[in-house]
Formats: sequence, C-alpha cells, structure tokens
Amino acid sequence: MKLQAPASVIGTCPVLYEATVVNSPFAMKTLLTAEPNEAANIIKSGGIVAFPTETVYGLGANIFDEDAVSKIFEAKMRPADNPLIAHIADVRAIGEIATEVTDAAARFIAAFFPGPLTLVLPKADRVPPAATAGLDSIGVRMPRFPLAQRFLKACGTPVVAPSANISGRPSPTTWLAVFEDLDGRIDCILQGESTEIGLESTVVDCTGGAPLLLRKGAISLIELQAVVPETSFFQSGGGEAIRSPGLLHKHYSPRARVIILDKGIAGLNAADPSSAAYIGLTRLKGVPALELVCPSTIEYARTLFEFFRECDRRGIAEIYCQSVDETGIGAALMDRLRRAADRSFN
Ligand code: TXA
Ligand code: MG
Repeated sequence: MKLQAPASVIGTCPVLYEATVVNSPFAMKTLLTAEPNEAANIIKSGGIVAFPTETVYGLGANIFDEDAVSKIFEAKMRPADNPLIAHIADVRAIGEIATEVTDAAARFIAAFFPGPLTLVLPKADRVPPAATAGLDSIGVRMPRFPLAQRFLKACGTPVVAPSANISGRPSPTTWLAVFEDLDGRIDCILQGESTEIGLESTVVDCTGGAPLLLRKGAISLIELQAVVPETSFFQSGGGEAIRSPGLLHKHYSPRARVIILDKGIAGLNAADPSSAAYIGLTRLKGVPALELVCPSTIEYARTLFEFFRECDRRGIAEIYCQSVDETGIGAALMDRLRRAADRSFN
C-alpha cells in the first residue's frame, strides 16, 4: 500500500487536521526524528514521544512523571479509566514497578520476553496511580523491536505507552498514521518502519491464581498454555470492568462501516461499489473501489489498521472484511474485526 506524504495526508483529512491542530489548544511543534537518543532526551525532560514497536506505535512518557503521564491522556483523548502499559528495556526494571513476579509470570518472561506480550502484575506503590487508572496492578511489556529497545534503553526509565492514536481510532502501524492523529498534540515522533505484527500485544493477567488471557495478540492461547497449561481466556462478564477496563471502550474503528464476511462467500453485494472496499485472503466477485488481497493471515493482520486508515483517507463508506480461521494470529485478527464492526459503542 502506498503511503501519502504529510502534506497530502493533511489535504485529504481536513476534519482531522482542524481538530488536531488548527482548533486545538495544543498546537505544539511535533519533532520528527529517526534518532532514538534525541527522542529519549524529550522523555527525560518531561515530554511525550511516539515510538515504533513490533506490534503498533506507542505514545510514551516517563512512568514516574505524573504530569507527563497526564499529557498522554489529553493528547489521545483517552478515557481516564483505561490503564497504560509500562515498557522496559531490561527485565531487571520489573522490580522498580511491580511488587511480585508470580511463578506463571516468570515462565512467560522466560519464554516470550522480549516480544509482543504484556503481563499484568501487582503494582509497586511508587508508580503513580494515573499510570494505571487507579488499579493496583500494572501491565509490563518488553518490546523486541531494535529501535524500541534502543529508545527505551536511552530513556533510562520504564516508559508507559498506550497505542499512539486518538482513542477509538485504529492503532497506528506507521509513523505517518501517528502524524495524522497526533501532529501538534505531542512533542516528538520517533520515525521507524511500519510495524511487523500490526496488532497490539497479547495481554495476560498474572496477578495471582491461574493466568487469564485478557486481550488476544500475536502470542496465542495455545502458545501460552504450552508454557503455563492452566492459562485460560477471560470470558467477559460482570467483572470485566475491573480486569481490563480498556476492553470496554470503543476500539480500532475507521469512520467507514465495517462488515465481516463469512469465509465461504463468493462475491460482494455492496449497495455502492464505488464507495466500498474489501480486504481478505481470496479475491471476490464484485470489485469494489479499493481491494487488498493478502497472501497470508499474518500479512492480513499486519496491514489491517493501515488499510482501515487508507479507506478513511479515500472517503470509503463500507469496508468488507473476510473472516479467517481463528488459529494463531487469526484469533486476534477476528477479535479486532469484531470490535471494529461493533456499532453498539456508537
Ligand atoms: O502492543 C501493545 O500493547 C501496544 C504497544 C504500544 O506496546 N500498546 C497498547 O496499549 O496497545 P493500549 O493502551 O492501547 O492497550 C492496553 C490494553 C488495554 O486494553 C488496557 O485496558 C490493558 O491493556 N491494560 C493495561 N494495564 C492493565 C492492567 N493493569 N490491568 C488490566 N488490563 C490492563
Ligand atoms: Mg489502544
């Protein structure tokens, strides 16, 4: 997929541009840099910085700087009840932010750190409540993407970071997507390549008892169970607000309507093909205005959010998405598709 230069992004997204820069009280100068040390210096002086990881781009602040943490919530327009994930460069940093590494957590760390896995652990008192939305637990993740590791190492402190998008929008998988949402609202974007996985990390609650999978990601339930067999998927119910508040909020949505297609379907039946788009693994009859046939489920997951954004840039009204088998990353992909298609949040 071709990315547009910033000028044309602004040109094709007038509403977004006005909302974030022209009419915004922020209107700060966002520095673009490819240099991790320069970006880390901004974190050290209390700023907020978007940076690439192997999953999606994050928007980071020093975990111990309450003012900087609150700037993340403002810039993203994130609900205050949605906790942030702490990103670390070294497993030894866990001791600074969590009080206990349970047996299950230790086994997951040995198997999957660094990588696309967030472990929820009991929080240390010195972590400000704003970082975890008042919860007494903290999500901890050690990214494996080399530029993220260099940046986090240079920061010299754990960095809390949600995905670097305006809340509710698809997570950004390119620095240009971050720029579209947050230019003028944040201090810096550390420019890297488009992200390798394209969906957010697997989140597992390891605060005690059997581990609970809270959010599906690149590391599947089967892979987790191979390490800790008693791990189970957390079925949403009355307790979900306490377990993982973020799951209750609207997520991953393009402006267009998202429609999930059964796997076996042979053709599209869009009311207006000129404003419809399609993404999937096989080519269908009834060619829409924009079509992306992916060679694998991994590639489908990697490009989904950027495809959603490209549809919005082109004013597409309906996005048809083919279902995939819920194995491996397919389970996380179907989770994101269902959330994007869910109109109950609107
Ligand atoms: O891949 C990722 O995880 C990316 C990159 C930047 O690391 N980050 C990300 O952050 O997706 P965010 O804030 O968009 O999603 C964090 C999710 C939310 O669903 C949140 O509720 C959950 O993790 N979470 C964070 N801390 C938690 C905690 N203490 N207890 C339960 N859930 C938590
Ligand atoms: Mg997010």
